Amino acid sequence: MKVSVLASSLIGSEIIKIGNEVNEMKRKGAQIANLTIGDFDPEIFPIPEELKDGIISAYNAHQTNYPPADGILPLRETVSEMLKDRFGLEYSTSEILISGGSRPLIYATYLALIDPGDKVVFPAPSWNNNHYCHLTAATAVAVETDTENNFMPTAAQLKPHLKGATLLALCSPLNPTGTMFTAEQLAEICDVVIEENHSRGLNEKPLYMMYDQIYSLLTFGVDHVNPVSLRPEIRDYVIFVDGSSKCLAATGVRVGWGFGPADIINRMKALVGHMGAWAPKAEQVAMAKYFGQKELLDKFLSFFKAKIQESLNALYNGFIELKKGGFDVDAVKPMGAMYLTIRINYIGKSTPEGEVLKNSADVNFYLIKEAKVALVPFSAFGNEEDTPWYRASVGACTLQDIKHLLPRIKIALSKLK
Ligand SMILES: Cc1ncc(COP(=O)(O)O)c(C=O)c1O
Repeated sequence: MKVSVLASSLIGSEIIKIGNEVNEMKRKGAQIANLTIGDFDPEIFPIPEELKDGIISAYNAHQTNYPPADGILPLRETVSEMLKDRFGLEYSTSEILISGGSRPLIYATYLALIDPGDKVVFPAPSWNNNHYCHLTAATAVAVETDTENNFMPTAAQLKPHLKGATLLALCSPLNPTGTMFTAEQLAEICDVVIEENHSRGLNEKPLYMMYDQIYSLLTFGVDHVNPVSLRPEIRDYVIFVDGSSKCLAATGVRVGWGFGPADIINRMKALVGHMGAWAPKAEQVAMAKYFGQKELLDKFLSFFKAKIQESLNALYNGFIELKKGGFDVDAVKPMGAMYLTIRINYIGKSTPEGEVLKNSADVNFYLIKEAKVALVPFSAFGNEEDTPWYRASVGACTLQDIKHLLPRIKIALSKLK
């Protein structure tokens, strides 16, 4: 059937492809440790009880009609207070937009700023910028990062690509790496953005920065930094993406918020409105109440973060042990989010059946079959197929599952020649 060029040229998600393979094997009875999805298993990581009760109460109180297009005022007030309290950021309720999770905010940021052919610069690895570029016919410029900087982009790496660009898409803590910007690294990037904007004429579109901080409350002892606190002068050019999906394990609840200059936020509000991508009203009512109770949130976060960190550390330590044991693997110390960056340098090796593992996808499928462990290669995040790095997400496994998968990886890797 004939469909639009856009629809027929959409790139399928490699993560979903791996997920389908895992599900098919599970259907046949295999027990697989699924470290692929950036989601939480609610049996292992439930949302806060008080939030769940708040959502049920809001439905019982008939909070079931259309919410205002930019979100209910009490939630925008709560977000405004939280931004001030936790990050020292001053954003009024007219500079905040609520939507159905944070994805509509990312799409709306692109739609509000990008004309076909406009240049969007983002690091590789990063999450989904290639897809949003495709949706908006942007010219995507993926800038490869390196282990030396924990896969976070540096000003020196980005600067050569910023001339004439419309959007620089950044994220910290970063999906897929679980690593974060230092204040110094981010301040240097802000400076090159400011410098680029100073060089542009009054009628030229400026260089904007999208700063995705959806994991900002999931950090393990490292301070989250943001561009506006570091360089207040950049405020007019920064659109923040944030929300409740990850910090409350509430990926299915769908409440996100974005903030930035009122003019851009208003245009994003119109775009989100046309999509009808608002957060459900009852969830907004409950979220406003929940985030208003600082102590409750802190208590949940400290328990939740400790549990994620325990899993990440177990996986990290396990890989460092393998490395010490002579295996060609490595891992980057987890800093935030729910991800661990793992190196498994076995491309080019042969399986006992004599099959050569040609790329990271082959290594991954070998581990799925032999070790019953599924990861996501960085090629799914914009890197080349021969990159030996993988993302492990710990939200859908218990600590026990993680402890049990390590010996299986050891056996599977030992069989490769
Ligand atoms: C960096 C990043 N931003 C945004 C999102 C989307 O979050 P939401 O579920 O709120 O749409 C994700 C989800 O995986 C993410 O990793």
